[in-house]
Amino acid sequence: MTQHETNNHWWQEAVVYQVYPRSFQDSNGDGIGDLAGIIQRLDYLQELGINAIWLSPVYRSPNDDNGYDISDYEQIMAEFGTMDDMEQLIQEAKLREIKIIMDLVVNHTSDEHPWFIESRSSKDNPYRDFYVWRKGINDGPPNDLESTFLGPAWQLDEPTGEYYLHLFSQKQPDLNWENPAVRNAIYDMMNFWIDKGIGGFRMDVIDLVGKIPDQKITGNGPKLHDYLKEMNTQTFGGKDLLTVGETWGATPEIAKLYSDPKRNELSMVFQFEHVGLDEQPGKSKWDLRPLQIAELKKVFSKWQTELGDQGWNSLFWNNHDLPRIVSRWGNDNRYRVESAKMLAILLHMLKGTPYIYQGEEIGMTNRTIHDIAEVEDIESKNMYADRLEKGYPKPEILASINVKGRDNARTPMQWDNTENAGFTTGEPWLVVNENYHEINVTQALADKNSIFYTYQKLIELRKSYPLIVWGSFELIEDTATDVFAYYRHYQGESWLVVCNFSDRAQRFSLDKTATETIITNTEKTYNQLSDKTLGPYEAFVVKLSSFTD
Ligand code: GLC
Ligand code: CA
Repeated sequence: MTQHETNNHWWQEAVVYQVYPRSFQDSNGDGIGDLAGIIQRLDYLQELGINAIWLSPVYRSPNDDNGYDISDYEQIMAEFGTMDDMEQLIQEAKLREIKIIMDLVVNHTSDEHPWFIESRSSKDNPYRDFYVWRKGINDGPPNDLESTFLGPAWQLDEPTGEYYLHLFSQKQPDLNWENPAVRNAIYDMMNFWIDKGIGGFRMDVIDLVGKIPDQKITGNGPKLHDYLKEMNTQTFGGKDLLTVGETWGATPEIAKLYSDPKRNELSMVFQFEHVGLDEQPGKSKWDLRPLQIAELKKVFSKWQTELGDQGWNSLFWNNHDLPRIVSRWGNDNRYRVESAKMLAILLHMLKGTPYIYQGEEIGMTNRTIHDIAEVEDIESKNMYADRLEKGYPKPEILASINVKGRDNARTPMQWDNTENAGFTTGEPWLVVNENYHEINVTQALADKNSIFYTYQKLIELRKSYPLIVWGSFELIEDTATDVFAYYRHYQGESWLVVCNFSDRAQRFSLDKTATETIITNTEKTYNQLSDKTLGPYEAFVVKLSSFTD
């Protein structure tokens, strides 16, 4: 029996769309996207065809890290609306057969969360052990652990003279998962949301919760999978929700620990191996180098083949932390449309659950900044200050931010060509990309050759052809370096996917015949596959007449 017949979940056949609420749609003119705004745009998402929305955090938060610093898990951020709006969003989405996936940020809270306010107040407060407190050593922090947002991960707190751990900003103290009371409080909160009818959770930096800070172990700590099993049993287990862990440190072996159905942990993880391919090895995301397509092929192929039936892939180019893919690995200039479609076809023909980040479906691009004053994101701001102090030249730091900064993904959604792209009637919290006059939803919907319709068709195809969901993957090795070509095989049928991942013509030759063109970003239909010249970013998918190796 195939995996298809034995082990079939709605989220394996689904396409997920990520909404970053702050930047999606403002409904009341305060310049900040909100829940009522998302409700207004559900028809658009239904037209695109997606099955679920991953909603970045909407909980109460002082917004030190745009909602990833939560001060109340059971209240909605005032700027985004009310719990009534949230319930309405869940209902209205359901009417359109769209599930809402909540962002679960439980490695840390805000320092304004009542648990932390209690915790820091005295050493014998009942909430003291909700967080990670340590004595200093020789007038300094307990050790030299670094925060992801730079600087020490330990902060001295005056009232008790001890240090608390924060793997992110000082306003994001880490919860102490070794304390069962913390875990139980989190499970109660998760059940509160499950009872509201949500479709699952995206779990923020979940691979950090098993940390042992005293040994400087942060990711993949020894108790991590015990905690996830316990969470599964106490909350979503048996309810067929979509659960996806953000796991920066996952290899295929580790991904199987999370997502092997027999282990009862999560549905799938986000792994980031491809995301690091344009970084200098061993350095940070800010230390740039060009992507090598050969490496991308290797990494994708590895993940496609190694999970087998013991795990499930997620597929993504973009999220709220990553630059826009068309600017990053496509061409946001002359070949914006062609390259955006090629990237979509390449990703959506793979095995796994695809995620689309808001605006990706219309080919939104990075926005160039010229001065640090234009930046809102805490990560970019901290890096700027840090590197300036270390003597890096300003233009080099700004260049890194323009290529990798998180604000690139966070500029407001471009709906139409009216002022501020139809995102707000007020002053947007982050500047709208000036190219909204040409790149916007209204324009995309009016043009039957737009990137939008490629995404729409890819989603439709996934619903119509089990081969896309369940078929096996085989990389074609003997192609030009910048041609990414692969087969999908399923029940005696084979499809061929060919993508020219470059802005130059490339040769492609295969001694096989196509019987049907499934999707392409050209006007062509494909039959003979020998001796072909592929145009810049040309991509096509065909059904093959017969397949013998
Ligand atoms: C995750 C989020 C990111 C956030 C960080 C801390 O990586 O995606 O936006 O800053 O966790 O919560
Ligand atoms: Ca608003």
